[in-house]
Amino acid sequence: MKPVKVGICGLGTVGGGTFNVLTRNAEEIARRAGRRIEVVAIASRHANPACATGEIPLQADVLALARDPEIDIIVELIGGYDTARELVMTAIEQGKHVVTANKALIAVHGNEIFAAAQKKNVVVAFEAAVAGGIPIIKAIREGLAANKINWLAGIINGTGNFIMTEMRDKGRAFAEVLAEAQALGYAEADPTFDVEGIDAAHKLTILASIAYGIPLQFSKAYTEGISKITPDDVQYAEELGYRIKHLGISRRTSAGIELRVHPTLIPASALLANVNGVMNAVVVSGDAVGQTLYYGPGAGAEPTASAVVADIVDVARMLGASADSRVPPLAFQSAELAETPV
Ligand code: HSE
Repeated sequence: MKPVKVGICGLGTVGGGTFNVLTRNAEEIARRAGRRIEVVAIASRHANPACATGEIPLQADVLALARDPEIDIIVELIGGYDTARELVMTAIEQGKHVVTANKALIAVHGNEIFAAAQKKNVVVAFEAAVAGGIPIIKAIREGLAANKINWLAGIINGTGNFIMTEMRDKGRAFAEVLAEAQALGYAEADPTFDVEGIDAAHKLTILASIAYGIPLQFSKAYTEGISKITPDDVQYAEELGYRIKHLGISRRTSAGIELRVHPTLIPASALLANVNGVMNAVVVSGDAVGQTLYYGPGAGAEPTASAVVADIVDVARMLGASADSRVPPLAFQSAELAETPV
């Protein structure tokens, strides 16, 4: 079978990780996808020292990749709203499938993006947008497809959890730990998104949309971060037998579906209280299955690349199917979404 041709846009932490995983595990990935995945173009203004791209030249113009007839899948890893949106919309217009890790883009512009993708019969896959390497999108959409989801709650920002853990365990200062999270490639380009809860609210918006079949409604999420938490707060909570965790919580209420992100006191013995460092964890409660727990690394180059590459494999597998027989593995069916008050 012909190889699938991929254009990677953005060669930062996640872009570099994606290239490296695709290269290192090319044989396993080809077996699972049923064909080889070939990176034919990379758009990036800077080389990534952690990533040997060999003969593939770096191009400055991401839109050129979206218009390149050779490319089947655009992998959007540039982040942010504006250029990423233009790139994704252009790729869809050109009939290309898209894989993205961009939670901000999906949470804010997802309704428009999925409507366009549906019209053009292409998939926009975004497993890496939520909880890094944990396959939580697939778990909810496919693994829990039989269930009415009643609520979900979790630690969905690795940087924030890393900061809270280091403050508690080692008494380190907030700013110092944040600087380390940035150096490790965990934090957003604008780390305010991590510490003010915006990144977690983006992710919660996406999870809720899939769990309840509702449109993306980021503006309705109550959002509070961890920037006002002091070492004393952390200490007092411990003395009382509790732990402060920054949670994203969504549940059905009589007034509609609630989305909220804020620091939460939870008993120190609870599972979520013992999720430390950059790890994420999400509990999902369904009417048939009961409570299920998903745990794993929430940020970082290769954990996130693991989810990006899984999406590429999914898209590669369905490329052979005719458009109307395809069940897009990770795309919203946006036309079917109902308006729901939050
Ligand atoms: N800044 C994000 C986090 C990256 O720390 O969770 C992964 O989405």
